[in-house]
Amino acid sequence: YERTFMMVKPDGVQRQLTGEIIKRMETKGYVLVGLKMVTPDEKLVSQHYDDLKARPFYKGLVKYMSSSGPVVAMVFQGKGVVDYGRVMIGVTDPLKSAPGTIRGDLSVDVGRNTIHGSDGTSPAQDEIALWFKPEEVADIKNCASAWIYEK
Ligand code: GTP
Ligand code: MG
Repeated sequence: YERTFMMVKPDGVQRQLTGEIIKRMETKGYVLVGLKMVTPDEKLVSQHYDDLKARPFYKGLVKYMSSSGPVVAMVFQGKGVVDYGRVMIGVTDPLKSAPGTIRGDLSVDVGRNTIHGSDGTSPAQDEIALWFKPEEVADIKNCASAWIYEK
């Protein structure tokens, strides 16, 4: 099944929301196959948000993400996890995110929106490669997969 990259942002780590976020993904049926707490430097964050470098908030975003303490980098696996992971996260602005989504339930400000998720299968592959070495991503089959997938 496909994989996506997700990251609990510094505000989510400081607010101790990591477990809540992992729990939502796992309860859905997705498998956590990569996990680490890291304090990214400016170079890593700049590469991660490279597509946004022309935006007015880019500099502040890079500074925030690289100077606010650790983030929790994660790889989740499962059917439709890239797109449905984004549905579970909500839209960029937490005040426009539906209740029931991570940002809708847990966040208020666009600059403190708690979690990142890859916005496509190609970015997902790039981001997993950027944040994880191949051997840091496990080959795990959900022991309940026969009860989650028809076949
Ligand atoms: P990510 O999952 O973090 O990539 O969020 P996203 O895909 O919902 O939004 P996008 O990739 O467009 O922007 C990346 C991040 O930049 C957002 O999550 C916000 O934290 C921040 N951001 C986006 N738009 C704005 C904005 O208009 N103002 C500010 N201050 N920050 C913004
Ligand atoms: Mg994005």
